[in-house]
Amino acid sequence: MKKILHITASARGEESVSYLLSQQTIAQLRAQYPDARVLRRDLWAEPLPHVDSLYSNALARKEGGAPHAQGRSSLAWSDLLIEELKAADALVIATPMHNFTLPSSLKAWLDHVVRIGVTFNSTPEGKIGTLADRPVYIAISRGGARERQPDFLEPYLRAILPTIGLKDLRFVD
Ligand SMILES: Cc1cc2nc3c(=O)[nH]c(=O)nc-3n(C[C@H](O)[C@H](O)[C@H](O)COP(=O)(O)O)c2cc1C
Repeated sequence: MKKILHITASARGEESVSYLLSQQTIAQLRAQYPDARVLRRDLWAEPLPHVDSLYSNALARKEGGAPHAQGRSSLAWSDLLIEELKAADALVIATPMHNFTLPSSLKAWLDHVVRIGVTFNSTPEGKIGTLADRPVYIAISRGGARERQPDFLEPYLRAILPTIGLKDLRFVD
């Protein structure tokens, strides 16, 4: 294992529970693979834009649309994030539960990397992922007890990540 992509979704930075939980996985991987490099994608420190019309139109195979008024367009973000993803031998995702589901920072990342014709293809058999499978460690933190609230976070990740080919999911809760 050479490259580990560490994606963190909490606004609480390095004090965040999900971050600290994910650091345990990072430490275990570093011990196992001392030469592995860890690339951090901090979704709070560098927030991703919502997808723009240029991106939405491109996905619908329509012409036109406009990029974000400032900064990189969603298509450029998407290309960059997909390259990061492809280059990683393992992913470590740290996320809190927000309102029974994933925080919007992580949803924005997914909107950029789950891309028709690039990371998955739509076929008569359904959506088929194009990414090579690799281990994905997912550290989840939540304030309330699991049994006393709906959970649209773990089932959602179990549905969306395999859509792009990432099936080897290992939850750390
Ligand atoms: C906007 C928001 C919504 C939240 N919604 C939930 C929730 O639905 N269920 C829950 O158990 N905790 C909820 N929490 C609490 C966090 O999941 C909890 O504090 C978690 O440990 C924070 O992780 P972090 O330190 O990695 O950010 C919410 C927190 C915030 C800020």
